[in-house]
Order: sequence, then C-alpha cells, then structure tokens
Amino acid sequence: MHNTILITGGAGFIGSHVVRLFVKNYPHYQIINLDALTYAGNLENLKDIKDQPNYKFVKGDITDESFIDELFATYKFDGVIHLAAESHVDRSIMDPLAFIKTNVMGTAVLLNASRKYWKDNYEGKLFYHVSTDEVYGSLGEEGFFTEQTAYDPRSPYSASKASSDHFVMAYYHTYHLPAIISNCSNNYGSNHFPEKLIPLAIHNIKNNKPVPVYGKGENVRDWLFVEDHARAIDTIFHKGRVGETYNIGGFNEWKNIDLINLLCMIMDKKLQRAPGTSAQLITFVKDRAGHDLRYAIDATKLNKELGWEPSLQFEEGLEKTVEWYLANEEWLEHVTSGAYQDYYSDQYQKR
Ligand SMILES: NC(=O)c1ccc[n+]([C@@H]2O[C@H](COP(=O)([O-])OP(=O)(O)OC[C@H]3O[C@@H](n4cnc5c(N)ncnc54)[C@H](O)[C@@H]3O)[C@@H](O)[C@H]2O)c1
Repeated sequence: MHNTILITGGAGFIGSHVVRLFVKNYPHYQIINLDALTYAGNLENLKDIKDQPNYKFVKGDITDESFIDELFATYKFDGVIHLAAESHVDRSIMDPLAFIKTNVMGTAVLLNASRKYWKDNYEGKLFYHVSTDEVYGSLGEEGFFTEQTAYDPRSPYSASKASSDHFVMAYYHTYHLPAIISNCSNNYGSNHFPEKLIPLAIHNIKNNKPVPVYGKGENVRDWLFVEDHARAIDTIFHKGRVGETYNIGGFNEWKNIDLINLLCMIMDKKLQRAPGTSAQLITFVKDRAGHDLRYAIDATKLNKELGWEPSLQFEEGLEKTVEWYLANEEWLEHVTSGAYQDYYSDQYQKR
C-alpha cells in the first residue's frame, strides 16, 4: 500500500535504524531519506545500505516550504515517517527558537504538503509522526504515562514536540489527514551521537575522562533498545489505527547513577580493567535546569493491540551497545573530530 515513503531525519540516530529496517525489509518500497545533515545527521550511519536500489538520500530542510512542496510533487509519497527534529534537551535550553523552528514549523510544513499533495484523497496514505514521552512531563515515584496522560511539557524541547503532536492531531481532526503518533521513551544503541548520556559515558570511560552525571544521578528514565523502537515504528506504520497514539517503552526504568554503574562494570570487563576502575571516573555535576525526575511508559496498548514487545533485556542491549562502540572506533573518531561532516561532500558532491 505505502509504496514511496518519505523518512525525515534518516541520517540521525533513530532515523538511520528506521531507514535501514525499511530498506532491507521492504525491497518493493522506494525509501527517500530527507535530512538537513545538521550536526546530528551522519550519513556514515547508512554506509551499508547507501547503494541499495530502493534507497535514495536527499539533503534538505523540512522548514523550507517550497523545497518540500517540490519534493512531494516529484516523488508523490504514499507515506511519511517523520523523525527529523532538534532532539537534545540541553541544546533546547540554550537555543529554544531553533527547536520551535524545526520541530513545530518543520512538522507543520510537512503536514501541509501532505494535505496539499494528497488532495483529500487519502486512500493508502499515512502521516506517521515520531514523538517522545517527554511531552507528558515528569512523574513522581509511582505511575506510568499512558496514551490518556495529559500533556505537560517542561523543557523547550518537550514543548516543541508537544506542539508538533498537537498540529498532527489538528490536521487529523480538521482535514481528516490520516495520521498516527507514537511517543517513545529514551533510546540507546549504536550510532548515537556522543552528546547523549550512554554514548558520552562509553566514550569518556574508554578515554579515561570524567563521566559527568547530573545532580546526584537520581533521575529515572525508561530505556529502549533503538532497534526495538525501529521495529515498533514498522509495526505501527503498517498495522496502527489512524488517529491513534501509541506509547512505546521497554518497561525498563533505571536511575541514571545505577545505569552508569552498570555501564562501568561492563566497560571494566570489556577493557579488561580491574573491577571498580571505570566507576572512579563518575563525576557529579550541577543539575540540568528543570530536570524532569522520572519518565516511565506504559506500552500495554501497543502490546495488546499490535503484538509488539521489546526483544532485549537491558543488560544484554547495553553490552551489545558497548561492543558496537568499541568495534567502531572510526565512527566515533569521525563524530568526535567532526570528520563525519565531510562524508556527504565526499560521497555525494565529488562524483
Ligand atoms: N533519542 C531518543 O531517545 C528519542 C526518544 C523518543 C523520541 N525521539 C524522537 O525521535 C526522533 C529522532 O530522534 P534522534 O534521537 O534520532 O535525533 P537525532 O538528533 O539523532 O537526529 C535528528 C535528525 O534530524 C535531522 N534534522 C534536524 N533538523 C532538520 C531539518 N530542519 N530538516 C531536515 N532534517 C533535520 C538531523 O540532521 C538528524 O539527522 C526525534 O523526532 C525525537 O524527538 C527520540
């Protein structure tokens, strides 16, 4: 049904896993990966599939209305899986307007183009918006976010994602645009930009640098292996009900400090260091402004309705992740040195 699919943000962390899964599992689909290649976009993430006949990369900005209109006219997309976003909470605290521009305006531009080019003939069409559990705000010690939890975003990042979710539902209700949203918990896994907690900690432990932990490390997050998120997106895209929201999570809550201690243990083992060596690098730093205490997702609806469940236990997924970073030193070196940003011009412009 959805033959030509636009995936936005496909050069990013989660997007690259989604692109790979779709390119490999659906050879009869045409996958167009649209990405502006901001600091977070890295085409080296997709080296292995770049020459597949059903894959094409297009560099461009989702906030550029005429460019997006042209793209829809050229490719006549049947489906959109929208992941492009500014995604780092700390950056949103420093520069909120960049988040409003990309996450709110960019989503609205895509919604508008979808509506315009699908011309109210929505047969076989779908706009799938990938969002976050952070739109729900912060939990106390108990309870879970369900699809009924009222939105209560508290950082510029989560406020911009909440706003984009509202626009998606507004297009569904007002124009009957076939749309689905999923809200997922924190992801971890390969190809994660090393400004985020887990890859940053792996990188610093490996290089014997301090591992910064906000406050006392008491904040709780629910972690999901990125490939499980990509599988959930596949399931929801193909089987989800239009107009619905699905929560995605691993039922896997960890205090930041417990997670970092587990990571230190795994790193000691992998680097053949004496037990306790890596943990000495843990350094508590001033807490993030407005730091949400706890996120925890209730993913029962997705499990009961569509049969999805996480495939990995956290310890297993974390060990796999560490192994990937240790085996892919070149990827990490290119990201930390900035060399990954030359990859696009090397691959696509010098031909
Ligand atoms: N990382 C998580 O734990 C997590 C959890 C739940 C939901 N999400 C959501 O999933 C999506 C992907 O997250 P991620 O962690 O992979 O992010 P990321 O920052 O790794 O990737 C974002 C991608 O979007 C691209 N991009 C940014 N601005 C753009 C623009 N104006 N036009 C076109 N492309 C642009 C970047 O170049 C990058 O490749 C986001 O929408 C995020 O809100 C992330």
